Amino acid sequence: MTAMASSALAADAQRTSFGKLNDGTPIEKVTLTNDHGMSVSIMTLGAAVHTLKVPDRKGHIDDVVLGYDTPAEYLADPQYFGASVGRFANRIAKGKFTLDGKTYQLDVNDGPNSLHGGADGFDKRVWKIDSVKSGPIASVTMSYDSPDGQEGYPGDLHVTATYSLGKENTLKIVYKATTDKPTIVNISNHSYWNLSGAQATVGAMHDILTLNASHFTPIDSTLIPTGKIESVEGTPFDFRKPTRIGLRVRDGSSEQIRYAHGYDHNFVIDGQVGKVRQMARLEDPKSGRVLEIWSDAPGLQFYSGNFLDGTMLGKGQHLYREGDAVVFEPQLFPDAPNHPNFPSATLNPGQTYSNTIEFKFSTEK
Ligand code: BGC
Repeated sequence: MTAMASSALAADAQRTSFGKLNDGTPIEKVTLTNDHGMSVSIMTLGAAVHTLKVPDRKGHIDDVVLGYDTPAEYLADPQYFGASVGRFANRIAKGKFTLDGKTYQLDVNDGPNSLHGGADGFDKRVWKIDSVKSGPIASVTMSYDSPDGQEGYPGDLHVTATYSLGKENTLKIVYKATTDKPTIVNISNHSYWNLSGAQATVGAMHDILTLNASHFTPIDSTLIPTGKIESVEGTPFDFRKPTRIGLRVRDGSSEQIRYAHGYDHNFVIDGQVGKVRQMARLEDPKSGRVLEIWSDAPGLQFYSGNFLDGTMLGKGQHLYREGDAVVFEPQLFPDAPNHPNFPSATLNPGQTYSNTIEFKFSTEK
């Protein structure tokens, strides 16, 4: 009998060791478990989701997120498996932006651009565990203090990530940040989903996707938004009706698909920004698992795992290949600081940045 069942709580949080980095730094993980078959482990390295287990239509429980068996492997990894990405999720053109008349140069780690906060972004940092709670809702809050100038960003930034799980099979993540100088912030979660199971022999391209987005932001050949906001109508980016991802992921007649080697685009989510609303629904016909993504952010980056190239040995010595998993990152638009027509990424002292994300699991017959 688990501690959870004996105490009759809906959800339980357990803090355990998760080994060490090569330099000896200890890494911990916190596992949240409910009594509906769902559990999720979050590690202090990158405040990253390491494991997320949910039942399929027959009640069989599988881990549905990609990752590594040991924390050390994450440090060499350019894939950001499960991580809390920041200070600025996605790309900033040439790693440059101007704020209050001053130009800042960020670490450039993706061709000519800065990606996910630079080479040593939040995903490579060890976060502190602030609180661990069991109860009707189990939760863990982790925090990270990013000093002024880190990776080129201004301001001392205090960041928290709270993961919670109640009796519903919903993982809720709330990111918050405050600063002592004007700066820019965009934090999201970078979990890779294979609803058939992270070690399944079948990838995510057969999954059926619905995106509540009438518009998207086209990119240039370095995956930076051009600044235009275009209708999805008549393009491979129209997922307003449930559509198999694989149907158009190889549509080479689309320059946009060619630039990204598939999908790697920001979708402008319909409805009210600032209100948690449904952004996406992913259904795996094989297992029957369904994942809904909800958030109050303006955009959703949908990445079809195009750069999983068979060189990563994941959990259980499983090789990850192109399209094995998909990533949905609710966030501000990529390169927002360089596009005045995009929602602002500026955070001033006295303000609190916040991004609420919900991953809701269910099954279909
Ligand atoms: C980006 C991809 C990038 C990947 C890194 C995604 O969020 O959109 O372009 O390759 O992260 O794993």
